[in-house]
Amino acid sequence: MTIAIHESALIRHFNTRKEVLRAWEEKIGARFSPFRGFKMPDSRLYVEHPDFLDSIVDLIITNERHIFLRGPVGSGKSTLMLLALRDLPTLADRKGNKFVTGYVGMTGLYEKQMSAAIADSLRVKYRRSWESSQIIEAVAKECVRRYIEEKSRTALFVEDVADNQEAAFHKLRYLADLPTQEMKDEYPEVLDEPIITLIMSGTNVYWNAMLSFLPQIADRTEPLDVPALDDMKAKEFIGRRIAYAQGDIDSFNPNNTDISPFTDEAVKVINDAAKGNPRDIRMLARGCQQVAAENLRRSGNPEVTKDIAKLVAEAYATILREVR
Ligand SMILES: Nc1ncnc2c1ncn2[C@@H]1O[C@H](COP(=O)(O)OP(=O)(O)OP(=O)(O)O)[C@@H](O)[C@H]1O
Ligand SMILES: [Mg+2]
Repeated sequence: MTIAIHESALIRHFNTRKEVLRAWEEKIGARFSPFRGFKMPDSRLYVEHPDFLDSIVDLIITNERHIFLRGPVGSGKSTLMLLALRDLPTLADRKGNKFVTGYVGMTGLYEKQMSAAIADSLRVKYRRSWESSQIIEAVAKECVRRYIEEKSRTALFVEDVADNQEAAFHKLRYLADLPTQEMKDEYPEVLDEPIITLIMSGTNVYWNAMLSFLPQIADRTEPLDVPALDDMKAKEFIGRRIAYAQGDIDSFNPNNTDISPFTDEAVKVINDAAKGNPRDIRMLARGCQQVAAENLRRSGNPEVTKDIAKLVAEAYATILREVR
């Protein structure tokens, strides 16, 4: 009995909260919360970093180093990978080689899972019964064949690389070192450069671990820090999400200065607190929606003011401190 009463009180509380949020969304002409988390975000929500993206792509094209996209959780590593993946198939390097791309997004992989994931991502055929070394050998052979016969180099993207088993990492190392000496001996005039470029991601802690435990790869890898969003980009981030929720994303103009109901001052406070981290900007904006929605019920005004943003940023800082 008692439990049933508590439950219904809880449900009523959540329903009221939902209604309050819903009223705010309706007021601004949104069909859902602009700040909900999407499993697969629409690419029209992305705020681009053209210069940084160019520097990634340039490094891949010049083929001098592997790449480690370095940044805290939620800083946009995966998003940048997707953007680079989008651009590469349309490009060629200075020798006229095109690119074949593969993306391994899963983590926690063992040797064989990693080998199979790489083969799948690069569309290389193998048998399920094969050992991981056979699978990787098939990948290596096919990448070399594509290089020689199709003038295609391979760019292999591997997310959160250090979250995999150590043995899995050695498979990557083998690919990173291609062509092998025997391959070079066999085709000396063609195989004079690496044929697979690795683009890995991870936090700074993992980069340091790689430096000490896998110096053979780290020495040939360029760490690139994912840039924080500046205030203009934070504004665009919020603006895109609002336009998306309003069904207006296709006419979104990044130079548009109006992102009401958020004020510019509120965005600045949010971005300072988030240190330009998109995941944190989203969380803070969602908190602001909550407070602004309560406010709307009392005053009829849906605005997200600087004061609301300050309130939410302070609460957020407290929570983060407690978590740490
Ligand atoms: N440039 C961007 N424009 C718009 N949204 C972005 C951008 N970068 C990241 N985001 C959003 O921020 C969130 C975190 O981004 P992402 O998953 O790319 O970060 P990450 O660094 O890979 O995080 P993790 O360490 O958890 O893997 C996602 O919701 C993503 O859609
Ligand atoms: Mg990620």
